[in-house]
Amino acid sequence: MVEPALGFTHEGAMTFADRMFRRMFATPSGLLGHLGGALMARGNEATERRAVELAAPCVGDRVVVVGCGPGVGVSAAAECGARVVALDPSEPMLRATLRRIKAHPGRQVLCGFGTAEETGAEDDSVDVIVSVNNIHLWSTVGRGLAEARRVLRADGQLVISSHVRALPLPARSLIGTVKEAGFTVRHAGEWDPPSIMAGRAFQMLADRR
Ligand SMILES: C[S@@+](CC[C@H](N)C(=O)[O-])C[C@H]1O[C@@H](n2cnc3c(N)ncnc32)[C@H](O)[C@@H]1O
Repeated sequence: MVEPALGFTHEGAMTFADRMFRRMFATPSGLLGHLGGALMARGNEATERRAVELAAPCVGDRVVVVGCGPGVGVSAAAECGARVVALDPSEPMLRATLRRIKAHPGRQVLCGFGTAEETGAEDDSVDVIVSVNNIHLWSTVGRGLAEARRVLRADGQLVISSHVRALPLPARSLIGTVKEAGFTVRHAGEWDPPSIMAGRAFQMLADRR
């Protein structure tokens, strides 16, 4: 369908919207990325905190937060006394996380570029991995799970949380895929965040076998 007033096709308009969406939320960059970070910090705060609560890290545990975005989950894990590594491929999000952490001196947090598929962590070195609202951005679910399996210690915990509407696989298939990747699923279910800015979440807690 042609939009004469704007001079581009409907498909072109969708692509433009998709680009804007990506700059805000998928790989936040520029001004739109800052805006997206601010919206996510507010809208996803409860979900990030609940994801960390599911794993309940202990003092001194090594926690890797992949796709940390503006860093709310990083703060929550650091408040538990964990040693936290915050990873994201977006520079504005890493800066936002650093600003959030600076407000809490004494917390043990390292920030760096990384993804779920490439964390840069050593084999068997991590107690908890937390992924909130980024599994749909992994190059493949299998690659992210293989990396989690590699870096987690035996019995280390993996928490995956996703907006239900953004799940890359139906929940039942995702649970099966996580089991096949070498994890025991301890909890899986839907949860309604208290924020009107966030839709229903699917959350899973799995132990590395
Ligand atoms: C929708 S935001 C979610 C941020 C935050 N966890 C939240 O829920 O508010 C997605 C984040 O994942 C990051 N990301 C993109 N590709 C990724 C990947 N392959 N692995 C991990 N994170 C990724 C983006 O840069 C962005 O900060």
